[in-house]
Amino acid sequence: MSLRRYNPYYRWLFPWLLDRVSAAVADERRDLLAQAQGVVLEIGAGTGSSFHCYSAAVDTLIALEPDVSVMRLARQQLGKMSLTTQVKTKLLLADAESIPLADNSVDTLVSFLVLCSVPQPQHALAEMHRVLKADGQLLFFEHVLADDPKVQRWQHRLNPFWHRCAGGCQLNRETAELIQQAGFSLQYYERYQHHSFPRLVGQLISGVATKASVTPEGRLVNEDADYDSG
Ligand SMILES: C[S@@+](CC[C@H](N)C(=O)[O-])C[C@H]1O[C@@H](n2cnc3c(N)ncnc32)[C@H](O)[C@@H]1O
Repeated sequence: MSLRRYNPYYRWLFPWLLDRVSAAVADERRDLLAQAQGVVLEIGAGTGSSFHCYSAAVDTLIALEPDVSVMRLARQQLGKMSLTTQVKTKLLLADAESIPLADNSVDTLVSFLVLCSVPQPQHALAEMHRVLKADGQLLFFEHVLADDPKVQRWQHRLNPFWHRCAGGCQLNRETAELIQQAGFSLQYYERYQHHSFPRLVGQLISGVATKASVTPEGRLVNEDADYDSG
């Protein structure tokens, strides 16, 4: 990660590309993040595209981002927002695989187009589960392995190249399954093809998850969920 600081692609072009992608999903971001409240931890906050979506129901936003160059833009983004529209925000230079926060300290977790890029998403999700309060919620929006087998084949073929050029992003993750395996229960779940994204990254999942209940024997119980796999 540290060598990226000196690579012009990651220093200038990649943050710029992130902003362009963000613009395409502005409505989805606004609708999902309107549900955030209390102490919010946004992992992989990027250039701060979410900052303006948080309402007064948010006490504190902790914007975690491991990339210094990207965080520089997030700081600029905060500076551009007027004090009246700003939620109290702390920028946290850290990795989602090792979150420097106490257990059960967060009301809302946000992962918006991040779990595709985290090297070991299972580790990040375990950490997210640890810091989330028992009655907290995870808001997620991610691109995943396509439903269409033809697109899947291209995702598998191109992934080794894509991964190197797109900041570690993986085209073919099954993120909804990873979220559930980490001990979350999907309360609301949508799965759809985005009309303006290329098909390689156009299969999206979005939803709200909570900590799954655990039986006395330690088994996870998946509660009833409002599924729309549309
Ligand atoms: C596609 S960008 C999305 C940024 C932002 N969430 C948004 O919606 O604009 C993926 C982000 O994940 C971050 N990321 C990559 N690995 C990470 C890790 N291990 N922990 C936390 N964030 C990570 C990247 O630095 C980048 O900012």
